[in-house]
This record gives sequence, structure tokens and C-alpha cells, in this order.
Amino acid sequence: MITIAISKGRMQDDALALLREAGVKLSADSLASRKLALEDDNGDYKFIFVKPADVPVYVEHGIADCGIVGRDVLLESQADVLLPLDLGIARCRIVVAASDPQVMTRTFGMLRVATKYSRIAGSYFGGRGIPVEIISLSGSVELAPALGLADVIVDLVETGRTLKENGLSVVEVIDESTGRLVINRASYQLKADEIAGLTNALTKALSRVAKEASAP
Ligand code: PRP
Repeated sequence: MITIAISKGRMQDDALALLREAGVKLSADSLASRKLALEDDNGDYKFIFVKPADVPVYVEHGIADCGIVGRDVLLESQADVLLPLDLGIARCRIVVAASDPQVMTRTFGMLRVATKYSRIAGSYFGGRGIPVEIISLSGSVELAPALGLADVIVDLVETGRTLKENGLSVVEVIDESTGRLVINRASYQLKADEIAGLTNALTKALSRVAKEASAP
């Protein structure tokens, strides 16, 4: 049996839909339940549902053989895991946003940056030689500029609605993110056949989904 850690939240439904397309069967009862660990109907897979930032932790430590998680989380965690597949789900951008679009040129001295992505933000501004104070938050980052905690935020944007409704706009795009399949290094060797079965099924599912999307 392969254990797969799935990011709870924004990616969960798309990840499960893709796994269903790849032939993994989860009963409606399982899906409707609040259980954080489930098995598929055939007993081939065990799923654990964890916070996005914890997916690389479970996979790197081998508690889960595989995981489905955003590239944003992987960039931030720097976990030592294998990354065989871009699943194309939960597509979004990692951006610098502010209420004043000119903030970067108008701020002298240290720019205060509120974010859940301290490492990504630190390396982005560091690489550009901009001195910053990173203020680490764990959510609702969009509140920080209006409340005077920060000059800018570094956060994810998918539809742009959260930024807009909190009076912020994109100042710079740092990177793009999509959901990725990640694999534990030892599992890749020890469960080679099972892992190959999963990655092949997901690859085929992805090409079917892409074909359907491009069909007239
Ligand atoms: C993310 C992100 C933004 C929001 C962007 O938060 O941090 O707040 O989604 O989405 P939008 O552009 O479609 O409005 P998430 O829902 O993952 O929750 P969090 O704030 O608890 O991290």
C-alpha cells in the first residue's frame, strides 16, 4: 500500500478529482466524512489529509510515500523530496502586493514585508538587494498593510478577489505555482512498481484532461 499526503484546503478537491480520473476509487461516504486518514476501495492507497506546509514534512520523513502539494509550499520548505509531476491543478501566482502600487519606489530604508512565505520573500528581496524586515504571519496576510503592520505582502493570488476586496493590488510577480506530486526518496526505490503505477496513471489522466480541455 502507498500512503499519499494531500494538502487540505484549496488543492484538496482538484487533487481528489485527478486521482479519481487516474482510477483511484474513494467511496462517497469516505469523501463526505471528516476522517483525516482514508483508504481507497481497492486497498491500494492510504490518504492522509494534512495542512499544506506539513505535506513535505510527512513525505521527507517517509511517513507518506507521496504527496500532493503546491510548488509555493515546496519552495518555502526546501524539503528533500523527488518531484516527478506537475499536476497543473490549483494554478496561482506568488506576488508582492500593496495598497500603494508605487510603494517600492516610495519607501526609504527597510521595507516591511508580511508573509507566510518568509524564505521565498527573503530570497526574492535579498536577490534584488532590497533591505527588508520579514514579518512572519500564518494567514490573513492581506490585513497587514491596512493595519499598519507592513508596507507590502508576499502571498498567493489565484482569482485576485482577496487582494481586491482588501484594497491591495499586485506590485510584482515573484513566481508561479501549481500542485505537484512529490515522492519520498526511499519509497521511490523500495516501492518502485507501485509508485510507477501511480505516476503512469496520473500522467495518462493529465493527458486525458488536457485533451478534453482542448476539444472543440
Ligand atoms: C490564499 C492566499 C490568499 C487567497 C488568494 O489563502 O493566502 O489569501 O488564498 O486567493 P484569491 O486570489 O482567489 O482570492 P488560503 O485560502 O490558502 O488560506 P490562508 O489565508 O489560511 O493561507
